[in-house]
Amino acid sequence: MTEVLDVRAMPDLGKDDAAWWRQAAVYQIYPRSFADSDGDGIGDLPGITSRVPYLRRLGVDAVWLSPFYPSALADGGYDVDDYRDVDPRLGTLADFDALVAALHGEGIRLVVDLVPNHTSDRHEWFREALTSPKGSPARDRYIFRDGKGPDGAEPPADWTSAFGGPAWEPVGDGQWYLHYFATEQPDLNWDNREVRDDFLRTLRFWSDRGVDGFRVDVAHGLAKQLPDELPTQAELDALPKDGTHPLWDRDEVHEIYAEWRAVFNAYDPPRTAVAEAWVQASRRARYASAEGLGQAFNFDLLEADFDAEQFREVITFNLELAETSGSSTTWVFSNHDVVRHATRYGLPPRHGSTDKHGGSWLLSGGTEPELDRELGVRRARAATLLQLALPGSSYLYQGEELGLHEVADIAPDARQDPAYFRNAGVDVGRDGCRVPLPWAREGESFGFGPAAAVMPQPDWFGDLSVEAQDGVAGSTLELYRDALALRRELQSDEDLVWVSTDDDVLAFRRSNGWLNVTNFGARTVALPAGEVLLSSVPLTDGRLPGAATAWLRTEV
Ligand code: GLC
Repeated sequence: MTEVLDVRAMPDLGKDDAAWWRQAAVYQIYPRSFADSDGDGIGDLPGITSRVPYLRRLGVDAVWLSPFYPSALADGGYDVDDYRDVDPRLGTLADFDALVAALHGEGIRLVVDLVPNHTSDRHEWFREALTSPKGSPARDRYIFRDGKGPDGAEPPADWTSAFGGPAWEPVGDGQWYLHYFATEQPDLNWDNREVRDDFLRTLRFWSDRGVDGFRVDVAHGLAKQLPDELPTQAELDALPKDGTHPLWDRDEVHEIYAEWRAVFNAYDPPRTAVAEAWVQASRRARYASAEGLGQAFNFDLLEADFDAEQFREVITFNLELAETSGSSTTWVFSNHDVVRHATRYGLPPRHGSTDKHGGSWLLSGGTEPELDRELGVRRARAATLLQLALPGSSYLYQGEELGLHEVADIAPDARQDPAYFRNAGVDVGRDGCRVPLPWAREGESFGFGPAAAVMPQPDWFGDLSVEAQDGVAGSTLELYRDALALRRELQSDEDLVWVSTDDDVLAFRRSNGWLNVTNFGARTVALPAGEVLLSSVPLTDGRLPGAATAWLRTEV
């Protein structure tokens, strides 16, 4: 039985520090594969609570919790049945309160995932919509349209969903509903006042429970304006995404976030939010503005090759962009939607790259193209040190601190991602980065829980487990711990100055003299004068080898 703690009695995390998020290291937990406390093979909230000491020792400032709400898991929890409850397999609201208390007790903030673009098809609203007639208020909460042809037997349009297959689904009475993602994820109609009010209630519900912020799923998709005569998919694709597209990044979406901002600002400190918005870079600033969600993901480093020039461009551009919004930028290499960066960097350029929803298709079968595991991890360590030295927030994904690779060879019957099933296995989907974490060298689930994990783990997980790396000098886990501790100590204002070096090397300095040098090439290079604080691999006679990063303290 989890003890219920009173979150209000917990230490004050610094009410004055309304800007805590600007340069936070945020650790993403995919709850079903983090830690299983009750042996049902699925990770749960008490499992996370039991690992709070690990998170404190790791040194992260905040946790972002992927969806933990009741869900049939048609899309890994991004199909939400009830926005104001906990999936019984993951625990109870009391377990949630205990998690908040445990995190706050260690000075760690909590950001929860909010999925406003669509509910699940088991949500009470959708069930009501299905039993209600055409034109009813219940149907108006979603996007229903009459089918074409006799009896409406043909879809209103030929649109395809993000996971493959048609985006319109018939309900048997001549009407069809829009689901841009899986069939089980009907899109909400955000023109409906009741939808808006209910989400305001949800924001307050979690904020009142002590949640510090929200990660907003598909933030660019909420406002839709479908013309009577629907365009074809080809026509949709050809339309500019400049604020007028029927589905994406419409200007009116910011009216919704202005209402949310009023809720956030009613708390002390104000609740924060970060938008997952796949929009043109120039249009990110509005999502990130102080009148809007406050911060927006930039996935540009994630999409870059391990290449000095590409990194430099991305960094310069995003720091400039952050100035236009007044927000701080965000750096991400891995998350629950993409091939882990240790793996991407061990594949030939572009092979490990991602499209926006997974794109791990080039890893199909796990053997082609051949993965250079060591090079991948070495580069990932170098990239992560660079990331943690940058101004702005760093978002880290569970398991990357262990140097975990993508699990590429999951048997078809063990896969769960709709991105795999909806395209007949052409894209292997995102399960490979969602395999339950290895905590121990041995055991049925490598310490994930008392029994086997629902999703199988590969044999090589044991050697990368927390137990195998804990206290081992040079392990990836210890590198992350050292880097996160130093980052806290060295954290400076949000300025960055490039220091000139040769082509394959990127060096930048923060205002307080904290200098990051990353060698993207193969040659060993000299380091500038300064005290070396940390390096991603041992230096060679004081010089920086290829695919490596060093941090130095220099005179200002
Ligand atoms: C976001 C999530 C992804 C999910 C999709 C639909 O892109 O990150 O995991 O499948 O939205 O909710």
